This record gives sequence, structure tokens and C-alpha cells, in this order.
Amino acid sequence: MMQGEGGPNEMKLVIAMIQPHKLPEVKRALFNAQVYKMTVTNAVGCGEQRGYTEAYRGVRQEVNLLKKTRIEIAVNEDFVEPTINAIIEGARSGDIGDGKIFVVDLMDCIRIRTGERGMVAIG
Ligand SMILES: Nc1ncnc2c1ncn2[C@@H]1O[C@H](COP(=O)(O)OP(=O)(O)OP(=O)(O)O)[C@@H](O)[C@H]1O
Ligand SMILES: [Mg+2]
Repeated sequence: MMQGEGGPNEMKLVIAMIQPHKLPEVKRALFNAQVYKMTVTNAVGCGEQRGYTEAYRGVRQEVNLLKKTRIEIAVNEDFVEPTINAIIEGARSGDIGDGKIFVVDLMDCIRIRTGERGMVAIG
């Protein structure tokens, strides 16, 4: 199987860094895509612009970390694209800093209460 092609038994961890004020719209889009499980964390970060805007006039000797919202969603293969599309739909403005989505292979998932593992545990 080619890398990135995906298969019926694959699980992925979708990690999105978005603008905090876009969280309500992303949540709504995920709900509409029937994605209900997520972990949300406040974070700081910077991307290509190193956290500076053109308006900044100071000395740039280090990166500027801006407030971001990190969303983690573990999904089975068939939910990877719907999840990505929902995040884009909710988070995209077309401006720099809209965010980034990382998709990582997920080895396993264990529901602590039942001991279920893998795709059934992700649910
Ligand atoms: N290569 C990276 N590694 C880790 N985190 C990243 C990376 N690129 C972006 N991020 C995270 O995503 C956030 C949003 O990045 P951002 O949307 O500004 O990406 P960009 O590459 O600068 O694209 P754009 O030009 O559209 O701004 C960053 O603040 C950072 O938290
Ligand atoms: Mg940027």
C-alpha cells in the first residue's frame, strides 16, 4: 500500500492549530460532520511569519509566540477527510495565520473503562 493512501484498519490523529476565535465555527463544522470527540488545548506558536505582522516595528531577535488553539481528534480512516474538511471550513479566512493541520498515524487507542482497543475504542 502506498504511503498516505490509507486503509480500512487505519487510525489517524488529526492535530489542528487554529486561531482561537475560530473555535466555535470549527466546533460547529465538526458537529455537522458527525465528529463529536475532541481534545482542545490553549497553546502558543508561530509559523512562517515567526509570529510577526507587517505592523510590527520592533527589533526581531526572536520568534513571537501567538495564542493558538490546538485541537486533537483521533479518527478511523473513513473520518480523516471529513474531519480535515470541517476544520478548514470552520477555520479558514484566507489570511496568513489561518492555521495548520497535521495528520499522524495512530498506533492504538484504549478505552480505559472497558479495555477495548483500536477502532472500536475510538468509536
Ligand atoms: N512546521 C510547524 N511545526 C509546528 N507547528 C507549526 C508549524 N507550522 C505552523 N505551526 C503551528 O501552526 C500555527 C499556525 O501556523 P500558520 O497558519 O501561521 O502557518 P504558516 O505556515 O505561517 O502559514 P501562513 O503563511 O498561512 O500563515 C503556528 O502558530 C504554530 O503553532
Ligand atoms: Mg503564519
